[in-house]
Amino acid sequence: MASHQTACRHLLSLRDLTPDEGRALIGRAIELKRMQTTGQVFRPLVGKSLAMIFEKSSTRTRVSFEVGMAQLGGHALFLSPRDTQLGRGEPVEDSARVISRMVDAVMIRTFEQQTVERFAAHSQVPVINGLTDRYHPCQVLADLQTFYEHRGEIQGKRVAWVGDGNNMCQTFMEAAVLFDFELVIACPEGFDPAADLIAACADHCQILRDPRAAVQGAHLIATDVWASMGQEEELERRRAVFTPYQVTDELMDLAHPEALFMHCLPAHRGEEVAASVIEGPRSVVWDEAENRLHLQKALLEFLIPH
Ligand code: CP
Ligand code: NVA
Repeated sequence: MASHQTACRHLLSLRDLTPDEGRALIGRAIELKRMQTTGQVFRPLVGKSLAMIFEKSSTRTRVSFEVGMAQLGGHALFLSPRDTQLGRGEPVEDSARVISRMVDAVMIRTFEQQTVERFAAHSQVPVINGLTDRYHPCQVLADLQTFYEHRGEIQGKRVAWVGDGNNMCQTFMEAAVLFDFELVIACPEGFDPAADLIAACADHCQILRDPRAAVQGAHLIATDVWASMGQEEELERRRAVFTPYQVTDELMDLAHPEALFMHCLPAHRGEEVAASVIEGPRSVVWDEAENRLHLQKALLEFLIPH
C-alpha cells in the first residue's frame, strides 16, 4: 500500500470540535445511553479496532474505551510501554505510522500534549487524547453530558473550579469557550493554569484566589486531586498550600442552591473533597464516571469512518 496520510479528524483538545459538534456529541451520548440501557444492540463498528496506548495508570478510561468498542461491535487493544517498543524508545512518529496502518483509531494517555500531537501528525487514523498533562477532553465532555442530564443547558451558567490549575481545569477552560459558560477558577498562587490558555479564554474564565468568592452563585463546583499523575513527589508540599481549597459542605452551601459537585476521580477524601460532599446528595461523580462510556461511544462513532 502506498504510504499516505489521509485527512482525518482527531480529538486532541476540545478545540478540535465546533460548538455544534460538541453539543451533538452530548446529545448522541444520551441517546446511546438510552439504547444501551434498554437492551438495544447497536454495532456500527464491527471489524474495527481501537489501539489504546497507556503511559499512565487508568481505571475509567481503559474500561470505558474497551467496553465501548465491544458494545459497538469492535475491538480494543491495550498497549503498555512496559511491553511495546514505544517503551524501549521507538520514536512516536514511527509507532504512529505502524500502528495506524493496522487499526481504525488510537487512544493515547501520556505526559506531554506534544506526544499526542506528534502521533496524530503521523497517523492515518483518528487519535483521541485519553489524558495528557495539559488536557483531558473525554472526561470534560462526559462531565458536560452529566450536567445536561441533571440540569439541562449549561450555556450562560456559572461553573467554579476549585483547586489545581491542572489538565482538568485547563479542559474546563476550553469547554467554557466552546459551550459558552462562565468559569471561575479558585487556585492558589503558583498553581495557575497555563498563561496562554488564560489569555485565550479570558472572555469566559477568571481566576480568583478565594474559593468562597469563586463558588458564589455557581451551578457546578468541580475539583480534582492536588497532585496529578507524575507529581506524586510534590504531594507533601502541595497539601500545605491546597488545604484551604478543600470542597466542604460549607463551601457547597455558598453556591447556587441547586449546585452539583463533580470530580473526575480517583478522589482523595479529606484532601481536595470532604467525604460528606462526594457521598452527599449534590455529588454526581458516579454518573460522570458512567458517562465516559456513553460519551466515548458517541465519539468513536463520530470519528471512525464506517
Ligand atoms: N477520570 C479518569 O480518567 O480516570 P482513570 O484515570 O481511572 O482513567
Ligand atoms: N489531574 C488528574 C486527573 C486524573 C484522571 C491527573 O492527571 O492525574
